[in-house]
Amino acid sequence: MPDRRPARLVVLVSGSGTNLQALLDACADPAYGASVVAVGADRDDIEGLARADRASVPTFVTKVGQFTSRDHWDRALADRVGAFEPDLVVLAGFMKLVGEDFLARFGGRTVNTHPALSPSFPGMHGPADALAYGVKVTGATLFVVDAGVDTGAIVAQVAVPVEDDDDVDALHERIKAAERVMLVDTVGRMAREGYVVDGRRVRLGG
Ligand code: GRF
Repeated sequence: MPDRRPARLVVLVSGSGTNLQALLDACADPAYGASVVAVGADRDDIEGLARADRASVPTFVTKVGQFTSRDHWDRALADRVGAFEPDLVVLAGFMKLVGEDFLARFGGRTVNTHPALSPSFPGMHGPADALAYGVKVTGATLFVVDAGVDTGAIVAQVAVPVEDDDDVDALHERIKAAERVMLVDTVGRMAREGYVVDGRRVRLGG
């Protein structure tokens, strides 16, 4: 097996950053094949940024409100991300849609994790919507980001049963536990084995 440098990951977060933490922990093992080179956020004072600080990973914050338009924000975000020369950008609980400029630069190598089984229940309330609909199985989806809301080509999915006494928090916490494992496994494989995006089909391995 030829020696390969670790894939460079830039991770974007908006909240507690437990998915980020799972990636940071995995990257501590050189055999994982990837390294988090920066963590970006759209807001200050979140645990996700604190996790990056504790791991001595550089951080940046690019807030929509600092810019005169959403397009300017999107360009600035792309510039901040680009400065770290990522091989893969991971949106891990990043609560903003990236725009045209960002996708022009990082499309095809930006993935996002969504707490539902796509194409069901896109948007901000995946666990609540699944619970309200009454599905018996939901889960999490890792997808290649496109211009839609949770519509991109699917890289991996994990199923999570809905329990009779679930409320939204209990269900989301169980989804997140499965989501973190899926994210770490899949990003590691993308880094080590490569991947091909062929229309809506994504294949791991060169
Ligand atoms: C995850 O369930 C993610 O899919 C959703 O928000 C949650 C983020 O959790 N968009 P964390 O910030 O990684 O703990």
